Amino acid sequence: MPTTSRAWTFSHRGSPTDILSLSSHPIPTFPPPLKASEEWILIKVSFAGLNPGAIFQMSLIPTFLRNKTCIPEMDLSGTVHDVWHPHAVESESTTTSTTSTRFRKGDKIIAMIPASHALPTGCGALAEYVSLPARFAVHKPPQASFADAAGCLLTGMTAHLLVIEAGLKPGHRVLVNAASGGIGTMAVQMARRVVGPEGFIVGICSARNVQLVESLGADFVIDYTQHTDNKNQNNNLPAHLAQTFHANPFNAIIDTLGHQSLYVNSIAYLIPSGIYSSVGIKPPDFSIPAFLRAVWQMQLNEWWPVSRWLGGVGRLWRGVSMMEPTLEDRERIAEMLRDGQIRVVRDSVWRFENVREAYAKLGGLHASGKILVRVDETVGDDEC
Ligand SMILES: NC(=O)c1ccc[n+]([C@@H]2O[C@H](COP(=O)([O-])OP(=O)(O)OC[C@H]3O[C@@H](n4cnc5c(N)ncnc54)[C@H](OP(=O)(O)O)[C@@H]3O)[C@@H](O)[C@H]2O)c1
Repeated sequence: MPTTSRAWTFSHRGSPTDILSLSSHPIPTFPPPLKASEEWILIKVSFAGLNPGAIFQMSLIPTFLRNKTCIPEMDLSGTVHDVWHPHAVESESTTTSTTSTRFRKGDKIIAMIPASHALPTGCGALAEYVSLPARFAVHKPPQASFADAAGCLLTGMTAHLLVIEAGLKPGHRVLVNAASGGIGTMAVQMARRVVGPEGFIVGICSARNVQLVESLGADFVIDYTQHTDNKNQNNNLPAHLAQTFHANPFNAIIDTLGHQSLYVNSIAYLIPSGIYSSVGIKPPDFSIPAFLRAVWQMQLNEWWPVSRWLGGVGRLWRGVSMMEPTLEDRERIAEMLRDGQIRVVRDSVWRFENVREAYAKLGGLHASGKILVRVDETVGDDEC
């Protein structure tokens, strides 16, 4: 057992390609650094999944709101290397009954680290060894590869919440924006299961992903690049949607990227009681002013009266937030993966040393499914 291991870290704010560095650190040991009253596990990480949210964390969060040095990312898969429980420790000295733990050494797991733990501790997924409260982890389904498992939790939990908020029912007609992304690929599959064969799903993505989105369950796919203006924005898309679906509007819209123009014009293609369920609003770039403007617009979407008479859009907007998912939320997605209800679409798998290049690709927001990083070179891409 080595005493040091490698991790990608950042101390300053900026773009991942500028601020991330790969360095060696002591492997975390037990007892945990925090005064822990719950089970903790030390994980040898196999794969990590990259998320645009981590770029926002690196670019936007000031140092006073986080640990001085942080490891990025929230999704990982791996093997339990050690387990710690406060009562099990007590029992060693008092020889009273031992406490049973959820995990044992050698268990294969999936974990999603929430910002509430990552920011104050600096803990993240892009490390060879990670120590975590066990409630952030679930058992990996035996038939799922470590690579796919590292790509399912944050996207799967967010897509599930989007589907719930949209109020989908069997037979519904639903529009899914950015249907080829990490969340979009999950949302299409989950929506299909709810609306059933009699439902109708329309996905929006670029031409190269049309077949992928159809294979996930969409009945019809719109190539948004055919409806962009000269600034490469989808500004002509709402007019196209209005023209195509005005007579037969959607029951719900799931926006996995957050295009305000699709919402503002949704009265023309969403039924009056239909819900616009969105991950938020996509800022034009990863800068602080752009982010603050997007947050303000989200608040207006939530607070402003829906009524057209009062200047509203005429349709209800619901923003979802996957900040504090529960153990049950994580277990639900692992079960869906186990039962084949969802599959993880892989955009690409990157070597641990090439994380900066992987972020350069992610930052373009044109991933088809998940961008994954093989943290442990000895674990194969399809190894379970
Ligand atoms: N609210 C929350 O709790 C929460 C949680 C997780 C993530 N998020 C946010 O959700 C967003 C999506 O995350 P993700 O992981 O799914 O991202 P992702 O995997 O990078 O996917 C982005 C997708 O957007 C599509 N796209 C790009 N430009 C488009 C356009 N103009 N019109 C339609 N589709 C377009 C791309 O498709 P093409 O390649 O075909 O262009 C790509 O498939 C991010 O902004 C992320 O920060 C929010």
